[in-house]
Amino acid sequence: MRIKRTEIPAAEIARQLAICADLRQRFEGRAPLAMVDTFGCQQNEDDSEKLRGYLAEMGFGMTADEFAADVIVVNTCAVREHAELRVFGRLGALTHAKKEDPRRIVAVCGCMARQAHVVEKIKQSFRHVDLVFGPDELWRFPELIDTVLAKQTRVFAPGGGDGCVAEGLPRLRSDKVRAWLSVMNGCNNFCTYCIVPYTRLRERSRRPEDILGEARRLVAAGYKEITLLGQNVNSYGRDLENGAGFARLIREIDAIPGEFILRFMTSHPKDAGGELFTAMRESGKCERHLHLPLQSGSDRILRAMNRRYDAAGYLALVDRVRAAVPDIVLTTDIIVGFPGETDADFEETLRVIEKVRFDAMFTFIYSRRAGTPAAELPDPFTREEKQRRFDRLLEIQNAISEEKHRACVGRTLRVLIDGEDREQGVLTARSPGGRLVRLAGGAELIGRFADAEITGFSTWALRGRLI
Ligand code: 5AD
Ligand code: SF4
Repeated sequence: MRIKRTEIPAAEIARQLAICADLRQRFEGRAPLAMVDTFGCQQNEDDSEKLRGYLAEMGFGMTADEFAADVIVVNTCAVREHAELRVFGRLGALTHAKKEDPRRIVAVCGCMARQAHVVEKIKQSFRHVDLVFGPDELWRFPELIDTVLAKQTRVFAPGGGDGCVAEGLPRLRSDKVRAWLSVMNGCNNFCTYCIVPYTRLRERSRRPEDILGEARRLVAAGYKEITLLGQNVNSYGRDLENGAGFARLIREIDAIPGEFILRFMTSHPKDAGGELFTAMRESGKCERHLHLPLQSGSDRILRAMNRRYDAAGYLALVDRVRAAVPDIVLTTDIIVGFPGETDADFEETLRVIEKVRFDAMFTFIYSRRAGTPAAELPDPFTREEKQRRFDRLLEIQNAISEEKHRACVGRTLRVLIDGEDREQGVLTARSPGGRLVRLAGGAELIGRFADAEITGFSTWALRGRLI
C-alpha cells in the first residue's frame, strides 16, 4: 500500500501557536483551567499530553475537577464496546457541568470522534458537546477551539484523508520518569475485527531525525524510560525514502549517551524478525521485552482475522526470538469469541499458550465494531459461552504468570523505581523485562535505578527489597 505522505508545514503549526497566544490574551486577568480525560491506549495518553501542551500555550492550568474547568476534553477510545460505553457514560455525566456554566467548552476527540455514527449520535443526543475532532485533526486543536469561541457554534471536524504527520506540537508530559515517544501512527493491516485502521488511518512514520531529537531532549531532561509507540512498530520507516527501519532506530536511540531504558510496542508477528531481535540483543538499553499479539491459536480463525501468520509460524518466531534474546519477557493479546470461534478453535489457542508460556497476557472478549469486515460474520456463540472460555484462559494464564514470578524469587534484579504505590510507603519499580516490582522505600528514590532482591510475588507483581 503506497500512500502519499502528508506533512503539516511548520508554518501551519506556527499559526496554531499564534492562535494560542491570541487566546491567552482573551483570558488575561484570570487563570482559566482545563481538564483532559483520557480513555484507551498509550497513543491516546501521548495525544492527551499534546492537547495539554496546546492548552498550556493558551494559558490554561490543569484541573481534575470538571466544575472548575473552562475547557473539558474527552479523548476517546473505540477499540471495544466497553470503552465506548464508558465514554458515553462520562459524556452524559458532563451535562451537569455544562448546565452549571454554559460557557464551559466540552470537546470530544480520539478514535470515537472519527466514526460517522458516533459523530451523529453526539450531534443529536449529546447537545452539550461543543467540539468533536478526529485524531488526525489534533494538530489544529487551537484553531478549532478558537472557532467555537468566536462563532459560538458547535464544530464537527472528524477529518478526512489518509492521515498526516505533524511535528513541533507543544507538550505537557504527565510523568517525570517515563515518557512516551510516538514513532508512527496508523495501521495498514486491517485485521478484520479492528477499528483502528479506520480511526487512526494509514501508517505514517515520523522522520528519524525528529524522533532522535525528541529522545535526546528526553534524556537531557532526566527521563529514565522511553517507550516508543506505534500500532505496528515493525513497519516503521516503510513510508520514508531513506530506508529507515525500526531496528536501525533502536540502535540509534541506544547510542544516545545516558542511563535510560528503551521500550517499544506493539509488534505484529507477521513482520517482527531477525534484524530487530539482533538490535535488541546488542542494545544495552533496550528492555528484553516483546509484546507480540497472538490473538488466536487457531489457523482457521487467524485466517478469518486476516493476521497473515499461522500457529506454527508464530511458534517458530517465538523460538527465534528466544534464541536471539535468551532472557526475553514475552507478552501477548488474545481475543476470545471471534465470530464463529468454536471450542475446538479455542483449544488450539490454549495449546499455543501452553507451548509458549507467556509472561503475561491481555485477554479480550471479541467486540463487534461497526464497519469492520468481522462485524458482518455470523456469530452463533453466546456471551456466556465466550465468558466461560475467557475465564478458563485467565485461570491458565494466571497459573503460568505465577509460576514465572515464583522463579524470580531470590534473584537480584536491576529495577527502575518509577512511582509510588497506592499502599503507603511502597514504591513501584520495573524489572529489566518490564515486570512490576513493589518495594518499600521513600519517594526520593523515584527515578533512580536500584538493585532489588525479589522476596515474594502475586499474579500481577513481584515483591522486592532494596539492596
Ligand atoms: N474486540 C476485542 N478485542 C479487540 N482488540 C482489537 N480490536 C478488538 C475487538 N474488536 C484487541 C486486540 C489488540 C488489542 C489492542 O485489542 O487483541 O491487540
Ligand atoms: Fe488493529 Fe491489527 Fe492494526 Fe493492531 S495490527 S491496530 S489489531 S488492525
